[in-house]
Amino acid sequence: MAEAVAKNIVWHNATVVKEDRHQLNQHKSCVLWFTGLSGSGKSTLANAVEKRLYELGIRTYVLDGDNVRHGLNKDLGFSNEARKENIRRIGEVSKLFIDAGVITLTAFISPFVEDRQVARDLVQADEFIEVYVRCSLETCESRDPKGLYKKARNGEIPEFTGISSPYEEPENPEITIESDQLSVDESVDKVVQYLKERKIIQ
Ligand code: ADX
Repeated sequence: MAEAVAKNIVWHNATVVKEDRHQLNQHKSCVLWFTGLSGSGKSTLANAVEKRLYELGIRTYVLDGDNVRHGLNKDLGFSNEARKENIRRIGEVSKLFIDAGVITLTAFISPFVEDRQVARDLVQADEFIEVYVRCSLETCESRDPKGLYKKARNGEIPEFTGISSPYEEPENPEITIESDQLSVDESVDKVVQYLKERKIIQ
């Protein structure tokens, strides 16, 4: 894998462009970047928002941490460097999906401010919507839907976010969802309302 970086590659301009797809779809594209602790509700919320948007006839796709780590990113672990590469790749994939005219919902812990900024900088300023799924560590740990906090506390999982690896809160997220205070439906309403206000959807 450690070959020289490709040279002699030239960008080819597409014939059908993003704006054409927006026209066809009757909505714009963006990434809803859900970030938060494991167990905070990112995947649940991303999937619930997708369902609502789907029912409104909007083209969507969810990229989920656990799922993407089964395929595209199965070569990556959980060191800071691996997480950085995980998020960089998802940022690039999100950019492609945005170009394809799709409202993309990503559900990755994405614990580091700097890595989220890298993903943000890949797309236009108005195309990146950071959704902080805020939930106390205590609540995430008491939910422990996959039994991972218990394992992490027992020392069976090293570098576990919130326990032995840090989570850096977003400084200025476009949307904050207090997932231990709002119902899923109320949370979905908040995200969909935001998309309407920003005229991404009608
Ligand atoms: S990220 O930090 O690189 O953004 P990502 O969202 O892809 O993480 O994957 C997180 C999921 O992997 C968690 O929800 C959990 O199911 C699982 N996981 C396994 N090991 C760890 C770990 N050390 N830290 C955090 N999550 C882990």
